[in-house]
Amino acid sequence: MTPCLEVQSVSRRFGGLQALDACSFAIGRQRSTCLVGPNGAGKTTVFNVITGFVRPDQGTIRFNGQPIDGLPTRDIVRLGIARTFQNLRLFAEMTALENVMVYLRDDDGTGPVEAIMRPLRTNAALRRKQEAAQALLAEVGLAHKAADTVRNLSFGQQKLLCIARVLATGAELLLLDEPTSGLSQSALTAMVDLVDKLRAQGRTLLVVEHNTRVVQRIADEILFLHQGRLVAQGPPAQILADPALAAIYFGAAA
Ligand SMILES: Nc1ncnc2c1ncn2[C@@H]1O[C@H](COP(=O)(O)OP(=O)(O)OP(=O)(O)O)[C@@H](O)[C@H]1O
Ligand SMILES: [Mg+2]
Repeated sequence: MTPCLEVQSVSRRFGGLQALDACSFAIGRQRSTCLVGPNGAGKTTVFNVITGFVRPDQGTIRFNGQPIDGLPTRDIVRLGIARTFQNLRLFAEMTALENVMVYLRDDDGTGPVEAIMRPLRTNAALRRKQEAAQALLAEVGLAHKAADTVRNLSFGQQKLLCIARVLATGAELLLLDEPTSGLSQSALTAMVDLVDKLRAQGRTLLVVEHNTRVVQRIADEILFLHQGRLVAQGPPAQILADPALAAIYFGAAA
């Protein structure tokens, strides 16, 4: 069966730094895969090349068998890949509900021509969008925060909102960059419960995560990246117990 995503021998250099070095891996459908590795290993760069923010110098990326490297980000999102960012990138002055509505697909007659020619239809379409966004906020535990401006939400709530936003795109493959980083213990629990729920729903997840306890809970499989190369791939029990990988992880982190 074709994997959901195949990254084949992808390289990317920034000046003198080889951020990705013939990196190859595949991830399966309806699985939760954790991408781990020390700081600077190239994890976010993997997300950037998959989503078209950065072009690979070499290599091929296939999504459901179709090559996507070189496509603009908007086409990649349309095909069904969405991501979160380490630095959130929410619209701080908009409400939680509006932040989600912006990411909902726009194929429902809410454009300017329809608004002038068929205002009732546009009104109904907008209401449907609000309801859909409200349902997504409920899914991530933020139903009561719909009308709050983002800058008035706690950091943990902002990170949950980022998950509602990727869900709004309707994407098949969700890339989450450090969903638990910077969270207090209670916010971390809420986030891990949410990611675990998405996994139980059979969504396809690729998650960058540093916390090994979280990895153990949410990963079906681990990809271990070091200096831009995939150095190990396997089930959590195997990867987390490997002393050579622990030495790379903590050695490089130190
Ligand atoms: N746009 C860029 N320009 C220059 N260097 C970059 C760029 N993006 C990434 N790098 C460099 O590439 C290397 C890999 O960066 P990347 O952000 O992918 O690491 P990471 O594994 O996500 O690390 P972290 O765990 O700290 O988030 C780093 O040395 C980084 O400084
Ligand atoms: Mg990163």
